[in-house]
Amino acid sequence: MYVLGIAGLLGHDAAACLMQDGEIIAMVEEERLSRVPHSLDKYHPRLAIEECLKIANIQLDDVDYIALSWDNSLLPDRVNIPDASVIFSKREFQYKTLPKIETVNHHLAHAASSFYFSGFDEASVLVVDGAGEDSATTMYYGKGSNLKKIKSIDYIESLGEFYSLATAYLGFSIHDAGKMMGLAPYGKPIYSFPRIKLDNEFGYRIDVSHNIRMDKIRNVYAKDFIKMGIDPRYMSREYDQLFFRHSNVTEFSQQHLDFSASVQKTLEDCYINLVKVLVNNTRCRNLCLSGGVALNCTANGRLSRMGLVDDMFIQPAAHDAGTAIGAAAYVMAQLGYKISPIKNTYKGNSFKNDKIIKLLDHLGMNYVHSSDISGQISEYLGRGYVIGWFQGAAEYGPRALGNRSIIADPTRPGIRDYVNNKVKLREPFRPFGPSVLESEVGEWFENINQSRYMLKAVQVKEEKRKKIEGAVHVDGSSRPQTVTAESNPRYYDLIESFYKKSGVPMVLNTSFNLRGEAMVYTPYDAIRTFYTSALDVLVMEDIIVKKRVLK
Ligand SMILES: [Fe+2]
Repeated sequence: MYVLGIAGLLGHDAAACLMQDGEIIAMVEEERLSRVPHSLDKYHPRLAIEECLKIANIQLDDVDYIALSWDNSLLPDRVNIPDASVIFSKREFQYKTLPKIETVNHHLAHAASSFYFSGFDEASVLVVDGAGEDSATTMYYGKGSNLKKIKSIDYIESLGEFYSLATAYLGFSIHDAGKMMGLAPYGKPIYSFPRIKLDNEFGYRIDVSHNIRMDKIRNVYAKDFIKMGIDPRYMSREYDQLFFRHSNVTEFSQQHLDFSASVQKTLEDCYINLVKVLVNNTRCRNLCLSGGVALNCTANGRLSRMGLVDDMFIQPAAHDAGTAIGAAAYVMAQLGYKISPIKNTYKGNSFKNDKIIKLLDHLGMNYVHSSDISGQISEYLGRGYVIGWFQGAAEYGPRALGNRSIIADPTRPGIRDYVNNKVKLREPFRPFGPSVLESEVGEWFENINQSRYMLKAVQVKEEKRKKIEGAVHVDGSSRPQTVTAESNPRYYDLIESFYKKSGVPMVLNTSFNLRGEAMVYTPYDAIRTFYTSALDVLVMEDIIVKKRVLK
């Protein structure tokens, strides 16, 4: 039984996920193939669908159900979204009969993407995002294959929208929430937003007119911020232009830093109160999180330190692309299939040595074949080289988890600035997380024993901070990925080899892409990025390419 889940009907983060009998066979985000970040140019993941079918080696006719993570029938008249027959036009796809199409409520798809893969039999399930069809935040109680809605907050009272708008106000794109999060620790949370209040029944409420259209809410916040005396940065006075203007300037006044800290704190306060209210209602201390807000590592870190729950699972693709997984899993669960808990996110395509060699030969590039990749690359790390690490199947979700990563030695002075400025060509305030041997993580970081998907910020132990300077943010935090021999054997071998040589059980890990680009997916993408950046070495499977100037 095959179910093909599809996300992207909202005009961003299109993705496809193919499940067979309760297992994810393939999951690919359209941006990785189209190379347009967040696939803002289209609403349906045509390339990702083709890729999933290719990975599984099946045709669309072999698929039993298509699951869409959006239910048009629940929409207010604010958005006009095309139906599936438009997506699967015969011009674009070949099939005899279109598989049966099921629609899954957007937040239900988010909830399914976390609960069914968490391994919990029972859980409190929280979804916080920009907005679903009619709600911005929804609480569920999950048990077995059932997801029961507890309560929800109307789409106009959106925490995600508030955060995105504030991000745009600083001159970033609305999809750059990570930049706001990276900036926040430089400021103090001295501003408050009276429109947003904590609430004992719903967790939070936002005082806005419910007659307002979603796309006009940005004006409401922008006017609030102006009244507070915060200067809009690089924003048009025409508020409607706001989302489309972002700057490349990277320096901020103290006022803007304090503003970012205040926005972050407001989000965290609401997020934590939501969990309190939810757990009070369900009396269940297993927590599942999804929706774009669940990618906020700082909020997740603070939440996990509070002891409100016993155990917590965050869907690594908590943003909208992950609803492709959720919609497929929901349909599969309703058909009686048991969904297998998540093992990893490596569900894209992989590329063998012979294919890579063929491409390198075609491009006339020099390379060497190594039978000791971990030994060779760990030595290069020790020399201070910055490495493009391309291995196995591409990961889904916004974090590179050791298959499409840029890696470096975290102990090297100035490495963070070097990678930001010269390699990734991105803002100097952006932090890097390390990939750490799971068995050693407790020696270096506070309050952590496992974090496989890099979704939680924790404090680096005071006495270790100087040693791994490159992996420590300005507030002493970091967001480690823990790695085991089982979760990613090849990456584990590399980190272990580096540990033996350096005494440090981790490497700096950032996604393999340049600023404003989607993560690399194919060897061709990797080669192009290698030559347009200051990367020193590119390693793809067992093949090593070095820049000529290196010795
Ligand atoms: Fe969403």
